[in-house]
Amino acid sequence: MKDKLKKWMRTYPIIWASYWRVKQELKRLLLIRYFLYDANLAYQFMFWGSQHRNRRRLSAELLFQYHKIEKGLVMPEPKRLFGIDPVLAVMDLLKQWRESNFEIDDPIYLGAVESLISYHGLLSSTGLDMNKIILPKVTKFLDGISVRDIDLKTPYELPQLDVAGKNPIESFENLMHARRSVRDFRTQPVDLELIKRAVELAQLSPSACNRQPWKVYLVSDPDDRKTLLSHQNGNRGFGHLAPHIAIITADSQCFFDSSERNEPFVDGGMFAMSLILSLRAQEIATCCLNWCVPPSTDKTVHQIFKIPRSEKIIMLLAIGYPSDGVSVPRSVRFPAIQVLNKIASTYSSSDRRT
Ligand SMILES: Cc1cc2nc3c(=O)[nH]c(=O)nc-3n(C[C@H](O)[C@H](O)[C@H](O)COP(=O)(O)O)c2cc1C
Repeated sequence: MKDKLKKWMRTYPIIWASYWRVKQELKRLLLIRYFLYDANLAYQFMFWGSQHRNRRRLSAELLFQYHKIEKGLVMPEPKRLFGIDPVLAVMDLLKQWRESNFEIDDPIYLGAVESLISYHGLLSSTGLDMNKIILPKVTKFLDGISVRDIDLKTPYELPQLDVAGKNPIESFENLMHARRSVRDFRTQPVDLELIKRAVELAQLSPSACNRQPWKVYLVSDPDDRKTLLSHQNGNRGFGHLAPHIAIITADSQCFFDSSERNEPFVDGGMFAMSLILSLRAQEIATCCLNWCVPPSTDKTVHQIFKIPRSEKIIMLLAIGYPSDGVSVPRSVRFPAIQVLNKIASTYSSSDRRT
């Protein structure tokens, strides 16, 4: 029946062409299922409101909150009473951690405690909390959990780049340690040739079918930088110190349909990481700046900087030379054992077909 109908349609070129057109359009429309799938996942998992906190979520929330404290501690000029909200949140989350009987020698837990201790130390030794608004609460909290002899490492000095005489893995290790998010820069601009070299190296990053969807828009003019940073929410207190801000994009047009909807971010992210490392290998520091903005902001920035709509902004990148003796947060990492999962074979060897 279907074949007969097709045969009949073929005899009328206009009907046949219309049939194909409608078929293509329907196929395209059906791709909306990818977005519905994403929306459903986001609805199920991406909301921190009052949902039950399992260990993964509790760790993530704790990291998210105490990172604000760590970050505040390395700001060139810490603001008076900075971090009150995150400090209260961290104390609450640590309490939940203990109530859930999770291990208190966990590095994430200890990192959070460490940031509270450093925060306490800074506020006690300066006039940042003259009216004792938050200090007594932190003191009481820390007294209650009795881990005050912790080996304090935050904030600490940015590791130096030193690859002389090292083998490849040692050099890479050093580069990885020396790459940290820096939030205090010298005013000296970076020579464009050095940035160009880093871009050339970053272009060696892998991308899906080698489509290389990335672009870098380098913003160096002080007024332009100010405008750009005013649309981003994570650069307060330091963004203005970076002599360059790069906008890293990936072009959606490089991808054939919505089944590839995440590829711009994957490829763009890989490129961004390579760029960051290539810059650091030349002694240049960076700080990624998230692009979690509402659609209206995204559109505005596209317009201001004349970025084609098809290009997705992956992130901004603050670029510059680190200020002398700059400190960075310790930003503790999960132990590798928690990251590396060994998948047990689904079939025992006797089940396996040869
Ligand atoms: C996609 C992305 C967005 C980020 N956005 C910001 C930001 O807006 N502001 C900021 O100060 N740091 C930002 N960071 C830096 C992270 O806070 C930092 O990478 C993390 O805490 C680990 O520290 P490290 O980079 O020094 O190792 C971002 C990092 C990434 C990868």
